[in-house]
Amino acid sequence: MNLFEVDIINKFNQRYPFQNFIKYCCGADRNTTEKLRLTTFINEVYSNNDNTNKYYIKQIMNEMLKYLDTFINTTSNTNDSRVCFLDEPESFQEWLYEQYIEYLNIQYDPNLEDIITYTFSVGNNINSTGLQIKIREKPNIISSENTTGLKTWEAALYLTYYLCKSFPNDNNIKTSNNETMNVLELGCGTGVVGISYYKLYAKYWANCNAHLTDGSDFVINEVLPYNCKLNDCTNENVHHYQMDWSEPYLRYIYDDKKIDLILGADITFDDECIYYLTYCLKELFHNNAKNGCYALISATIRKETTIEYFIQRCKELGLQVELVSSCSNDDNDGFIKDVLFKPLTAPIRIYKVSYYI
Ligand SMILES: C[S@@+](CC[C@H](N)C(=O)[O-])C[C@H]1O[C@@H](n2cnc3c(N)ncnc32)[C@H](O)[C@@H]1O
Repeated sequence: MNLFEVDIINKFNQRYPFQNFIKYCCGADRNTTEKLRLTTFINEVYSNNDNTNKYYIKQIMNEMLKYLDTFINTTSNTNDSRVCFLDEPESFQEWLYEQYIEYLNIQYDPNLEDIITYTFSVGNNINSTGLQIKIREKPNIISSENTTGLKTWEAALYLTYYLCKSFPNDNNIKTSNNETMNVLELGCGTGVVGISYYKLYAKYWANCNAHLTDGSDFVINEVLPYNCKLNDCTNENVHHYQMDWSEPYLRYIYDDKKIDLILGADITFDDECIYYLTYCLKELFHNNAKNGCYALISATIRKETTIEYFIQRCKELGLQVELVSSCSNDDNDGFIKDVLFKPLTAPIRIYKVSYYI
């Protein structure tokens, strides 16, 4: 496959909105002469579709069939076209219809479990091979099994994007001069942030330990082990524990552990959780602040008053809060274009929280 085709497959595996997929493939803003060979693309999609969202494949094929006549006309008339056929266009058309018929009965299922591969570029080099993380999730389920952690939320993708972009020399990331790094994720859900951090930094630190935690036993027992395995993170340096911010007993699990960095995404969603979360942060800083420990909390700002409460609570507890990054729908470049592929549901801000010693 050429690099353009690899990019298209990556977009497919990250579930680029199907309505805009063909437009992306034909995008005029691409400065490449490489072409997407439609047969190569469809074969690739088919070759590993066992775990894939068949409804999404159906939508993509549907879009392709809609645009096929245009493709056939442009590819035969101009060399500028971004797509081409390996065979005769007419036999491709016939073949695609045959494939599509197999998918006709597949209907939208909100409970569908999908494996999504997220691709992030690393550092400032947009041509770097980047980081790929596979996550099994239920992207259409807001809440089930007493948790909201069955899908990956936008704030988690933004925090991962930020960690990857800042790798490895950002003051907000590098916290320790020694060779051991212990990172703790709170309310990790599908685990994309903690797993990504570990994959990025495992080679950077001589000894990197990731502690992925969530209040939900379902997340800890069902969601995380699978996603860690999917990403080859099953060694003794990656731990997952149930940890509820409101349970003092569970919080004290970490009393004897040295933590350098705390990460959290979309865990400031209401006043009650903020009340316990901020207290939990203070407890964690109590033992670790002298080592330079701090937290990066990525918050989706659904209501300004909720985040104001978070900041106020931090201040009441003697915690310092600093805005380190933000993203809104006005940002045409970066996160929305490279990772989310659609408008944000609400602005996202990353706060650095630390403790005055
Ligand atoms: C909106 S989800 C965010 C999940 C993940 N961080 C992400 O952004 O994709 C909130 C997560 O916090 C967890 N959670 C909610 N209340 C909690 C508590 N009191 N203690 C620990 N985890 C909690 C939920 O189980 C869920 O996984």
